[in-house]
Amino acid sequence: MKVLLLGSGGREHALAWKIAQSSKVEKLFIAPGNAGTQTVGENVDIKADDFEALKNFVVDNGVDMVIVGPEDPLVKGVYDDFKNDERTKNVPVIGPSKSGAVLEGSKDFAKQFMKRHNIPTAKYETFDGTTVEEGLKFLETLKAPYVLKADGLCAGKGVLILPTLEEAKKEFKEMLGGMFGNASARVVIEEFLSGIECSVFALTDGKNYKILPEAKDYKRIGEHDTGLNTGGMGSVSPVPFATKEWMQKVEDRIIRPTVEGLAEENIEYKGFIFFGLINVEGEPMVIEYNCRMGDPETETVMLRLKSDIVDLFEGVAEGNLDKRNIEFDERAAVCVMLVSGGYPQAYAKGYEITGLDKVEDSVVFHAGTKMQNGKVVTNGGRVIAVSSYGKDKSEALQNSFTQAQKIEFTDKYFRRDIGQDL
Ligand code: AMP
Ligand code: GLY
Repeated sequence: MKVLLLGSGGREHALAWKIAQSSKVEKLFIAPGNAGTQTVGENVDIKADDFEALKNFVVDNGVDMVIVGPEDPLVKGVYDDFKNDERTKNVPVIGPSKSGAVLEGSKDFAKQFMKRHNIPTAKYETFDGTTVEEGLKFLETLKAPYVLKADGLCAGKGVLILPTLEEAKKEFKEMLGGMFGNASARVVIEEFLSGIECSVFALTDGKNYKILPEAKDYKRIGEHDTGLNTGGMGSVSPVPFATKEWMQKVEDRIIRPTVEGLAEENIEYKGFIFFGLINVEGEPMVIEYNCRMGDPETETVMLRLKSDIVDLFEGVAEGNLDKRNIEFDERAAVCVMLVSGGYPQAYAKGYEITGLDKVEDSVVFHAGTKMQNGKVVTNGGRVIAVSSYGKDKSEALQNSFTQAQKIEFTDKYFRRDIGQDL
């Protein structure tokens, strides 16, 4: 069959790499893709949120399935747009409907949903411009540090964690005053949870679900989790504290109630659910939902997924995911992200990347790259993900580290401690 994948980052290269291995796939298109995705499929020069152009492409090229990588098209309603068009209504879109993507698109909705379905999460309240005084009073009832979240999408920047009540009050007023534009017109204030985070992923057809390998990502720019937040500097899978018993709690208290809750509320959801969890004294709690896979978690999760991912997607499309098989690779996987010097602040683009052909025994996923005059050049803050297997995470990290040194570009930087805190 012919498959179209939407997106252009490291997550999409990892998904494309896995999809291309399926015996069911005769042709893979990626819109818009990057310099890496074109090594496993054909890039199509259409933006992931240009629905009209995407639908025309699907019709003209006989595409049988659309898989959505990033949240943006989902939150904008790509699923519904395809469904409501006579020409594309029978082409399955793997990803939630617009109403399902609200789990990621609105923190307030996500918190209310969890409350309705008794899913463990931090205590919270939501405020807007008409309830500033109430919000300030609520802050006084909490203990430091204080967690403030813009309700809407802010490209990962909408959460502030503040050490003092004074700063929390000030930032709270600024958020409501438009710090993140309309996205912070409503602000969720929540209790701070202390623990180690873990990303858990499920694929659902709306009724059944399959749990994928879990992973942990590393958000800070500096080693030992110091410095500014980034889009992710690496990931590791499996996560040692996510034992069979812990994952059973996650399934019973979080995954199943979420899938059942969506069905009860008649929210169409056929795609990935990303549970951003925190382990609080052995008990899993939800920090956030995302309506897509994680980046850079996908760059290790895909290495550990042994089954044919397109077979699973067919299960989602046909509503018989329970009849499909999912198997994991027992080995560990570690992803190390090579980033542009200066990132996550100002950085330069357009540097030539060399040595990609020298990499052995690791999988290289392109994140921010493009082709320019026949050369692969840097085109973003996060440039290349080097993912490796190992008998354990230390060996996997060592493998990624060895291969990462062969890839060269001006001002390359990466963390050498991915997975070592666990
Ligand atoms: P979010 O966008 O909701 O994932 O929040 C971004 C990051 O802020 C998370 O990955 C956590 O590290 C942190 N965070 C969010 N909510 C809380 C909380 N209630 N307690 C502690 N840390 C939090
Ligand atoms: N790695 C976290 C995310 O994709 O949101």
